[in-house]
Amino acid sequence: MSERREPSSPIHLAPKELVAWLAGQWRDSVSNPDSPYRLPILVTMAGSPAGRTVVVREAGESPLEVHFHTDLRSAKVAQLRESPACLLVWYDARSRIQVQARGQARLHSGDERARQAWEPLPVHNGRQYGQVEFPGTSLSHPLAEVLPEKEDGWRNFCLGIVGIADLELLQLDRDGNIRCRVEPSGGGWIKRWIAP
Ligand SMILES: Cc1cc2nc3c(=O)[nH]c(=O)nc-3n(C[C@H](O)[C@H](O)[C@H](O)COP(=O)(O)O)c2cc1C
Repeated sequence: MSERREPSSPIHLAPKELVAWLAGQWRDSVSNPDSPYRLPILVTMAGSPAGRTVVVREAGESPLEVHFHTDLRSAKVAQLRESPACLLVWYDARSRIQVQARGQARLHSGDERARQAWEPLPVHNGRQYGQVEFPGTSLSHPLAEVLPEKEDGWRNFCLGIVGIADLELLQLDRDGNIRCRVEPSGGGWIKRWIAP
């Protein structure tokens, strides 16, 4: 069957341009609360599978990576320490595009890289990491105790950087869904169409 052309969908971009477009969406989402690329599900697979929403805090195109912030004491950190392989999943409901990005997470805490991410954080964000109880512990009341100063949170702050190894995109279309895989090749990227 011949390939249909839908120039309006980024899935038809050449691989390099597609990756650049995606990195641009991720970067734009950092300052755009309405972006569908702001809140991926981060899936880990140590022990049992687990997924949760995170906020994209920064993104890079070369190398292709997505940054998130989290609490060093959280289950996801323990899971990523055990098995850094992870998956980020977005769904752009306006364009009806699903993006899956597989990669390896690197974790930074207490180092220069983490400090660079920590410094610009607004006080209310930083204070969240000053929660006294470990994330996931039982409480006898709804609200956890949070220490007063932003700097109280620093010791629990963790910067996660997911280095993206490959991508899959799915464009929903009533005339036929379109799916592709984007993989590294010879210092660049190649795109393969796959059956949806
Ligand atoms: C919209 C939204 C954004 C979130 N962003 C983050 C985030 O950036 N980092 C984070 O650690 N948790 C974030 N969370 C909370 C996580 O989804 C999760 O509940 C929490 O981190 C505990 O996950 P874990 O026990 O798997 O580590 C967010 C939740 C929602 C609903």
